[in-house]
Amino acid sequence: MHISILSSSTRIDRLSHRVALALEKAIIERGHTARILDLASYKFPIMEEVLHRHPKPPAGLADFSEAIRQSDAHIFLSPEYNGSYTAALKNAVDYLKESEFARKAIGVVSVTSGPMGGMRGAISMQQLVLGVSGFALPQMLLVPQVSQKFDEQGNLLDPAFQSKTDFFLNNFIWLAEAVSEKKKSNTAE
Ligand SMILES: Cc1cc2nc3c(=O)[nH]c(=O)nc-3n(C[C@H](O)[C@H](O)[C@H](O)COP(=O)(O)O)c2cc1C
Repeated sequence: MHISILSSSTRIDRLSHRVALALEKAIIERGHTARILDLASYKFPIMEEVLHRHPKPPAGLADFSEAIRQSDAHIFLSPEYNGSYTAALKNAVDYLKESEFARKAIGVVSVTSGPMGGMRGAISMQQLVLGVSGFALPQMLLVPQVSQKFDEQGNLLDPAFQSKTDFFLNNFIWLAEAVSEKKKSNTAE
């Protein structure tokens, strides 16, 4: 399977991208392919028109759309900002057609520097997944005190956190494979 990770903090000196790096490595170790779609690199402007109707699409948007289309499943990863996920994530998703996410497994990962882990951000992202007709994974990965959990390269600093990542990925890969197999066997419906 090919999995895209939407890393959605565009903040200078961001911390949550560490978790994207860690998940990318962990997915590859499980024998799948993964690509981080880094919204800080894409730098999409605020959406003025959706991609398929845009007279002059922003640079990188067609590539982003193609990367989403080519993925079997997605991870939406965001820091919690004011009780929700980043504006950059909503903006990027809004550019695309619902059909690009529909009937794909989508897991959510919420990250905070403080002790809470971003439950409200995660639940908000699950609502976004439903909004684009994705299959929201019920299990979420919440990463509190992120700088104590992962270093800048995405290496685990806190061995006790490994079980949380494994639990999330085990469930995510299970759902993604189930959905992906069903799509292969029955594309007509
Ligand atoms: C605009 C903004 C809003 C924030 N809101 C929350 C919040 O609602 N809950 C929380 O636990 N932390 C909140 N924080 C703290 C973030 O968890 C912390 O800054 C984290 O490092 C953000 O991820 P990033 O470094 O990848 O941007 C907020 C930070 C910013 C910049």
